[in-house]
Amino acid sequence: MSNDWNPSSWRNFPAKHQPSWPDDAEVNQVQKILSEQPPLVFAGEARNLMGRLARVAEGDAFLLQAGDCAESFDSSTDSIRDRLRVILQMAIVLTYSGGTPVVKVGRIAGQFAKPRSNPTETQGETELPSFLGQIVNDVAFNSDDRRPDAQRLLTAYHRAASTLNLLRAFTRGGYADLHQVSSWNRDFVASSPAGERYATMADEIDRALRFMAACGIDSTTVPALHEVDFYTSHEALLLNYEEALTRRDSLTGDWYDCSAHMLWIGERTRELDGAHVEFLRGVGNPLGCKIGPTATTDEVLGICEALNPGRVPGRLTLISRMGADKIADGLPPLLAAVRDSGHRVVWACDPMHGNTYTSTGGRKTRHFEDVLSEIGSFFAAHRSEGTHPGGVHVELTGDAVTECLGGSDDLVDQDLDRAYETMCDPRLNGRQSVDLAFRVAELLQSDVTPGLGR
Ligand code: PEP
Ligand code: CO
Repeated sequence: MSNDWNPSSWRNFPAKHQPSWPDDAEVNQVQKILSEQPPLVFAGEARNLMGRLARVAEGDAFLLQAGDCAESFDSSTDSIRDRLRVILQMAIVLTYSGGTPVVKVGRIAGQFAKPRSNPTETQGETELPSFLGQIVNDVAFNSDDRRPDAQRLLTAYHRAASTLNLLRAFTRGGYADLHQVSSWNRDFVASSPAGERYATMADEIDRALRFMAACGIDSTTVPALHEVDFYTSHEALLLNYEEALTRRDSLTGDWYDCSAHMLWIGERTRELDGAHVEFLRGVGNPLGCKIGPTATTDEVLGICEALNPGRVPGRLTLISRMGADKIADGLPPLLAAVRDSGHRVVWACDPMHGNTYTSTGGRKTRHFEDVLSEIGSFFAAHRSEGTHPGGVHVELTGDAVTECLGGSDDLVDQDLDRAYETMCDPRLNGRQSVDLAFRVAELLQSDVTPGLGR
C-alpha cells in the first residue's frame, strides 16, 4: 500500500462488488455532478462522533448502530420516523436499564448499496443481474429494473439528503425530547410484553423528569433533555459515489467522506490490498470494518494498522459477525491479539449477518434466539479477555414486519408470509428490537469489567 493517498487512488487497486455499469462515460459524468453537490455532513460532526466513539473504546459508553439492511428510495416519512423512534427507544432502554451513555448511529440516509453472494439471480429459465441496492438497480425481477443505471447515484444522494434533513428536524426539533419517551411507545410496539416493560420504564423516567423540573432542571437549563445526537452511517461500497462526496475540510485541511458521519467496510471487501481499504484509510471519518468467522488475527491486525496507524481511539470499530455457533471459538483470539497489539478499537457485535438461513417456506430469515445467543457469547468473550463489549450493530425497521422468527411474539415460519417486506436481509421489527434492547441492557448490567471504569 503506497502512502500517497488521494480520493481516487483506490482506482489503482482491485475493487470488488462494483456494478457493471453499461456506460463508463455516463458514470464519470454523474460522478462529476455529484462532486459539485453540497456535502451531506460536516467534517466537524464526524470528529464529534469520533470523540464519542473514543469513550466507547475506553469502556465508558455503548454504541448502538442500527437501521435498514437496504434502504428504499420510497421510504415514507412515517417509515423513516418509525425507524428513528425504535432506535431512540432502544437507546433509552440501554441508557436507563443498562446504565451507560449510548452513542446512536443509524444505518440510514445512505445505506443503499448491497454486496451480493451471486452477481446474477436465476428464476426459472431467466438469469438477470442480482439486485444490488436501489443506488444501482431495482428489486423487481425484469431486465429493465435490474439493469444498473448510473442516474440512480444522483437519486441516492438526494434521498440521503432529504432523509438526513428529516432526521435532523426530528432530533433537534422536539420529537426526541426526553419528555416524549412515553409517546414513542405507540401502536404495535406498546401492545407487546417488551412494550409493557418499556411503558413501566417510561413512567419512571417521567417521574424523574418531574422531580428534576421541580428542582429547576429542565430543557431550558439542560438542552440535552430536548435534543439527541444522532449520526448516520452506511457501507462504503460504491467507491465512485464515496469518492464524489469526499471533500477537504476547510478547518483542518484533512479529507472527509461527507456522505455520512461513519463509513464501514463490509465482510466481502475488507482485503488489505483492495480498493475499499485503500479509499477509507485516507478519509478522517470514524470507520467500521466487518469481521467474519474466517478472519485471521493477521488480517485483523493488518486492518488496524492500515485504517488506524496513528492508533486514534474512536477511529476504528471492528464489527464481528461470526454466527451464534462460531463466535465462542472465533472471537476470543481476535480480541486477545488486538488487545496485545495495543490498538484501542471499539468492538461491536453484528448478531445478524452470521445467522441468516432459509426457512422451510423458502424465506431468508434469522431467529431471535440466535441473535441473542451471539450477543451473549460476545459479552462472554469480552469478559474472558478483559476487553470491553462496545456495542451492537443490528438490522431493524419500525414497521410491523414479520421477517425474523421468534421474539416475544414467537413468530413462526407461517408468519413470515404475512408481512415480509425487506428488499434484502430480514430485519427485526419494532417489538423484537425493543425486546432485544432489554436483553442487552441485562447483559450490560451484569458486565462489570474490572479495570475498565465500569
Ligand atoms: C450488511 O451489513 O448489510 C452486510 C452486507 O454485512 P456483511 O458485510 O457483514 O456481510
Ligand atoms: Co444485511
